[in-house]
Amino acid sequence: MLREVTATRYVEPLRSGGSVPGVVEADDLGTYVVKFTGSAQGRKALVAEVIVGELARALGLRFPELVLVHFDPAIADDEPHQEVRGLHAASAGVNLGMDYLPGARDLTPELARVFPVDPLEAGRIVWLDALTVNVDRTVHSSNLMLWPTLGVTPPSLWLIDHGAALVFHHRWDGSDGSDPAKAYDFRHHALGHHAPDVRAADAELAPRVTEDLLRRILAEVPDAWLADEPGFATADEVRAAYVAYLHARVRSSAAWLPTDFPSREELAAEEALRAAKNQQGRPAWLRQVPDLHGKPAARQDWSVHLG
Ligand SMILES: Nc1ncnc2c1ncn2[C@@H]1O[C@H](COP(=O)(O)OP(=O)(O)OP(=O)(O)O)[C@@H](O)[C@H]1O
Ligand SMILES: [Mg+2]
Repeated sequence: MLREVTATRYVEPLRSGGSVPGVVEADDLGTYVVKFTGSAQGRKALVAEVIVGELARALGLRFPELVLVHFDPAIADDEPHQEVRGLHAASAGVNLGMDYLPGARDLTPELARVFPVDPLEAGRIVWLDALTVNVDRTVHSSNLMLWPTLGVTPPSLWLIDHGAALVFHHRWDGSDGSDPAKAYDFRHHALGHHAPDVRAADAELAPRVTEDLLRRILAEVPDAWLADEPGFATADEVRAAYVAYLHARVRSSAAWLPTDFPSREELAAEEALRAAKNQQGRPAWLRQVPDLHGKPAARQDWSVHLG
């Protein structure tokens, strides 16, 4: 089960997040990003966070620890904004917390251009997103963070924010979108330009997503977030439906595996063409000046962008 902690101090709201998560300190001396049950995204976003996040962890991807956070709105009494106060008031009780990564940086398009990502790691992340139909890992909203950014250890990619995944759980009635073999739209994926090796990821990861693993992950989701689902009598029935869907989907990976990413060679050719065009447009005296607008990336020290 997820660990349980009690929030003792409200630090600040994270206004960059659409659901306005809150940073809190807790009685275990940890600091957490809290996703509230009363947010407009609703409890299903929290269910998706637990299932996809724990799946990512089980498959060896980096994902901060999740905890259940007991939250009393009284600790955030000095929050001045009425809409945030309303969110807190609607969220008294158990909410979802994610370990706060101090100093972490969002992988923005600018950082993505200079941060080296291993194609196999990129492939694993794209594969997980395709399996869980995560529509929120795009170039402009990567929900990937670089951490740590201080000290001697180089930063790594950390996954966050899976609230928009599992879109099928909005349509349990079998209408459009709930087909386990449905293709995944990967055109704007945040790692599409890192030559993700999704075939290798599929061969490595698909056999590991067993019914037993899925059952263990679903057991982590609190009953209260699964209750009252139309068409289901109990929380365990809902859990079984998630397990059945995801297991069917992993077995039909051949139908949804996104393989049409540009290869490294194609990317290099694209880049060479772009650089050549750029040179053509330059007056003779400017042709010797290096073009730093495209992708100097690998040759530059990207760490200077993270300080
Ligand atoms: N564990 C964490 N450690 C440090 N910073 C975090 C963490 N989780 C989230 N953040 C920061 O807060 C921002 C918003 O978080 P997140 O994307 O999870 O919220 P959200 O409400 O689901 O947002 P949206 O749906 O708008 O993407 C992130 O982009 C990141 O900058
Ligand atoms: Mg986000």
